[in-house]
Amino acid sequence: MEKNSYKDQIVYQIYPRSFSDSQSDGVGDIKGIVDKLDYLKDLGITTIWLSPIFSSPMEDGGYDIADYYHVDSLFGTDEDLDLLLKESKKRGLKILLDLVVNHTSDKHHWFLEAKKSKDNPYHDYYVWREKPNTLKSTFGGSAWEYNAETNEYYLHLFAKGQPDLNWQNPALRNDIYKMMNYWLDKGVYGFRMDVIENIGKDPDNLITANGPTLHPILQEMAASTFAKKDSMTVGETWCSNAETRVLYTDPKRHELNMVFLFDDFSHFENPKYGKWVRKPFVMKELREIIFHRQMVEQEKSWDTLYWNNHDLPRALNRYIDLKYRGEGAKMLLAANLFMRGTPFIYQGDEIGMVNGSFRSKEEYRDIETLNAYDELKSKGLDNKSIEKAIREVSRDNARVPMQWSSKAHFGFSNGQPWLKCSDDGIAWTVEEETKNPRSVLSFYKKALLIWKDRQFRDLLKDGKFIPQYEESDCLWSYRRIHEGKTLEVIANFSNQTQKLPKIEGQIILHNYNYRLSDNLRPYEAIVIYKD
Ligand code: GLC
Repeated sequence: MEKNSYKDQIVYQIYPRSFSDSQSDGVGDIKGIVDKLDYLKDLGITTIWLSPIFSSPMEDGGYDIADYYHVDSLFGTDEDLDLLLKESKKRGLKILLDLVVNHTSDKHHWFLEAKKSKDNPYHDYYVWREKPNTLKSTFGGSAWEYNAETNEYYLHLFAKGQPDLNWQNPALRNDIYKMMNYWLDKGVYGFRMDVIENIGKDPDNLITANGPTLHPILQEMAASTFAKKDSMTVGETWCSNAETRVLYTDPKRHELNMVFLFDDFSHFENPKYGKWVRKPFVMKELREIIFHRQMVEQEKSWDTLYWNNHDLPRALNRYIDLKYRGEGAKMLLAANLFMRGTPFIYQGDEIGMVNGSFRSKEEYRDIETLNAYDELKSKGLDNKSIEKAIREVSRDNARVPMQWSSKAHFGFSNGQPWLKCSDDGIAWTVEEETKNPRSVLSFYKKALLIWKDRQFRDLLKDGKFIPQYEESDCLWSYRRIHEGKTLEVIANFSNQTQKLPKIEGQIILHNYNYRLSDNLRPYEAIVIYKD
């Protein structure tokens, strides 16, 4: 059986709470997604990654799962999920689930049992110590929380409501594999694996990511579950880079197909305040990191091509002068899409959505954001800078409701949305952009058709990646070459006009209406093909 269909997919990430609400309760749901399947098919994507939809107290937007087998009532019913699987399949769309197994919710029955006593059969499903050490939670404060019943502390690398699972326990591992097989047998294509780098942790030695048992566990997991099928797996890894990712992705190691790297995002962090305070954006530095991923260990890694997800402020706000929002959104796609890897589109990318328009603390919902006020204050940041940091970096920026139409709340819901909609104009909605052949949405459709065209498939899958004009501070340019065919991307990643290098071949994609012979205007991007 061919087991590398993951190389032919274009993935679309849905953050279900904010995608489409069919029940008018202000929260997106599974039936809402079913209503939009034709839209997604028409957009040209082939696989949907669903952020978590399972039973959860929603302390961390569903990344705190209380039951891996049942849909949360906020999102609908188990039958709705069956319907989504069925309707997606009908349209040739595959589904990836978000596998959140570094931790559960503290309301999961395993944890409710585990905390009762040290002899409880589930006690060893979690990580307990008699005394806390200095490990910190990603969401602020100590990573240890006291449990009076057993007079011990449990580990939570994220919120207190997200106790870490003990992957050293074979019984826990088997229970997780059973659950994964349950979903694979139901027709799920694979998994996006939440903070998977943490499951081999060694907390006594303050090792959280990439711990000593991580890779043996992933090998066992693969062999017990998804490796039996033609599937897709993509791990979330904040602490890896282009060199170290091969430990996950080298096909000979039989672990995952690919990982998300974040060294491009982390590169612009301030050493004292972490991700919240950003260093000035320098395109050349970003390009170097992303091109480097394309160049090293090509035999042992397959890239994830993405700009956004539910945890990051929008790339348009990070990198683009928003006077050129439409051109910039199209350029970002062209720059990324034709590199070596599987493209991931986050909901709203295809209509050029930007960060939310939050004005005060009361408007945010994300636990990390709300905790950051105190966390940044304790690190000495003044109030004005805290406001700015949160406005620019909060994860809620990417979680604002999807902009469908000119109706109230952008047609996302007939109720009051769980998170404030952006103040954006109706020009940036699916409804308007569908009518406009020059819209970001129309450009996406055209670009995805090219990506899928048989004529370019081998070239995009197997073609060599060759960077160009690396001395330039503004051009993002590369060639892909395969069996005498060449595809070339030349993008002006700046708001200043640049001199256009000499081009040879046929222009197959262009984000401006017409070309100027000598120049590339702000964010102008062209894709050229030659055989
Ligand atoms: C991942 C998720 C993020 C979540 C965290 C804890 O980073 O993408 O949304 O808060 O893991 O599960």
